[in-house]
Amino acid sequence: MHDNGDVRTEPVEDTLLQDANEAILALETAEEEVNRGNYSNGSLVDIDATIDTTLEMQKFYVLAKRQAWKVEQLSWGQLPPVPEGKGSGEKRARRMAIWRSVVTQQLQADTLASLLSSQLLAAAPDLPGRLYYTTMVQDEGRHAEAWIKLTNLVGGMSEPDPYLDKLGNIVLNADTLEEKIWMFQVVFEGLVIDRFRQIAAGAPGTILAELCNRLTVDDGIHHGSGVVYEQRLLQRVSSRTKRGIWRMSQEMWPLFVDHLMWRPQERSWASRAMQPRDLETVKSYMAQERKLAIKVGLEIDTPPGF
Ligand SMILES: [Fe+2]
Ligand SMILES: [Fe+2]
Repeated sequence: MHDNGDVRTEPVEDTLLQDANEAILALETAEEEVNRGNYSNGSLVDIDATIDTTLEMQKFYVLAKRQAWKVEQLSWGQLPPVPEGKGSGEKRARRMAIWRSVVTQQLQADTLASLLSSQLLAAAPDLPGRLYYTTMVQDEGRHAEAWIKLTNLVGGMSEPDPYLDKLGNIVLNADTLEEKIWMFQVVFEGLVIDRFRQIAAGAPGTILAELCNRLTVDDGIHHGSGVVYEQRLLQRVSSRTKRGIWRMSQEMWPLFVDHLMWRPQERSWASRAMQPRDLETVKSYMAQERKLAIKVGLEIDTPPGF
């Protein structure tokens, strides 16, 4: 684990918690005033009075604020951006193309995450939820900024993964907040943590590894908060909303498999060789998705054909 320790088990500092409490209280008081004003002139503020997630979300708000870092803190100029590799020029160029593709995909993913987190901030129905999402919008913006910087250091973007964009667009255009949180925070951000660990292990002593270690912590918080928030939101939705989530999951799996199997043009030959390993990854992801579904109170089965 990253040297910040396991964020999920660390005790929350009292002073930070107090700060968060005060911030939430101040926001609530301000919002009550606004509500009163708006009701009196006939329009409504879109705050859902039936849900109060203060206890759950302020913990993640405090954690997120404490874990926040700056792009400048990475060892730019002191460490190589990605592994430099050994061997002939041609072999090194091939390795570099692979790392460039890894960086490109992560830039794609965090660009989508920036857009998605701002949607969640706008759609969260309660104040503690909204307050928490302000930290996530900042995190994802910072991630995208770091990936842009790294992308420039490795020679610019390479071929983007078309399936990642398709997946992102489905979530961006999903009908409900519950669908978005399920797919983005609960599933994708949950599954990506292992991927960050793998990349970091394969690129020791590089900016890439440093960044992935930080993202493991950040996305641990994003995922954890998403699980808890989704649990609370699902307690108050109709079975129609839950069916919508099920439909979306079924629709996304084939695309997700395509995304996992995808390789850039110059490495498409590797896809056949990697197929058994890719299929194992798909199976393990599906098993993890089923477990996550139970955790948040959903029934998601494996789509036919898998
Ligand atoms: Fe991110
Ligand atoms: Fe994230």
